[in-house]
Amino acid sequence: MSYAERSRRRAEELGKQDTVRILALETSCDETAAAVVENGRKILSNVVFSQIDLHELYGGVVPEIASRAHMEACDRVADQALREAGLSLGEIDALAVTKGPGLVGALLTGVNCMKGLAFAADKPLVGVNHIEGHVSANYLSYPELEPPFLCLVVSGGHSHLVEVADYGTYRLLGQTADDAAGEAFDKAARVLGLPYPGGPRIDALAEEGNPEAFTLPSPKTEGRYDYSFSGLKTAFMNTVHTLEQRGEALPKADLAASFRRAVCRELIGKARLLLTEAEQDGAEGIKGINGFALAGGVSANRELRRMAAEMCGELKIPLFMPELPLCTDNGAMIGSAAYYRLRNGETAGLDLNAVPALKLV
Ligand code: KG4
Ligand code: ZN
Repeated sequence: MSYAERSRRRAEELGKQDTVRILALETSCDETAAAVVENGRKILSNVVFSQIDLHELYGGVVPEIASRAHMEACDRVADQALREAGLSLGEIDALAVTKGPGLVGALLTGVNCMKGLAFAADKPLVGVNHIEGHVSANYLSYPELEPPFLCLVVSGGHSHLVEVADYGTYRLLGQTADDAAGEAFDKAARVLGLPYPGGPRIDALAEEGNPEAFTLPSPKTEGRYDYSFSGLKTAFMNTVHTLEQRGEALPKADLAASFRRAVCRELIGKARLLLTEAEQDGAEGIKGINGFALAGGVSANRELRRMAAEMCGELKIPLFMPELPLCTDNGAMIGSAAYYRLRNGETAGLDLNAVPALKLV
């Protein structure tokens, strides 16, 4: 019997088992991360090895450096995740790995590492969509959360409003026409001379600034629930350059606060539109959801979390926000997403490949 056939049979058996433990690896960008997750909901270990030090010098992620660093770290990080969970590889039921989207070399390193391990240990392997991983971080922070819910996915590469209709079933309701929110934060940070990664630095600086100090335009989009951040970014750059040309010292905290306010207002504004239109007959919105969730690196943003709480309070709908370490890239979110895929009988063969431009829907 082939490995693929054995995996399929094993996945079926796991469907009848009370406890399923998955060892998951994430290497799509600049974090080598591994975790052991039980039944998609309980973190037994979660190890994140960040490469920030390696890339800081270049002001952004250098793909070749990322691949090499993943290659050196992935075995060690996976071992550490097992050790911290107090389990041996033999006690793990299945393995999971991010297959995309992300940097091709970085993804390939993780995919090959886990294919080798899965074949050697003769365990089923699940290839996971990174964005689905971010959404699933909510299942770890809220063990009671069940679909359907509306999710704002905001990371370095994505700004999506999706309806999570069921486990693994998504309806795309809005997306960015150009830059992702995280990308916009990172670019604005660079204009202010802040080091990589810029999002958290802008966020911290903004806490001390006046968000009304500078007026930035509201983006125009074709789709009612779509996003666009490139105009906002250009307006921000022009504001900074005008101040520089006048020889004025940059009020960095006020600039950061104004930019953060403009981005978050836009992100939450479209979500609010969807949630309120859900009440109207014939609207394109959503109905019967269990709440509103945030996901992705930008969901660590303090202002975004405050605005989301305010909106959900007003609309009287439950709010779900992953704990801070689960907002940015980690292995546990991959382990959670993998559990639900495995439950659907989805296993990968040894032909599993990296898909750098993989879509969620
Ligand atoms: O989800 P993530 O860790 O990786 C991707 O899948 O892209 O997101 C990384 C992005 C970066 O652009 C980073 O600057 C941004 O999330 N980010 C933040 C914050 N923390 C991370 N942006 C704004 N405020 C934050 N606190
Ligand atoms: Zn991510």
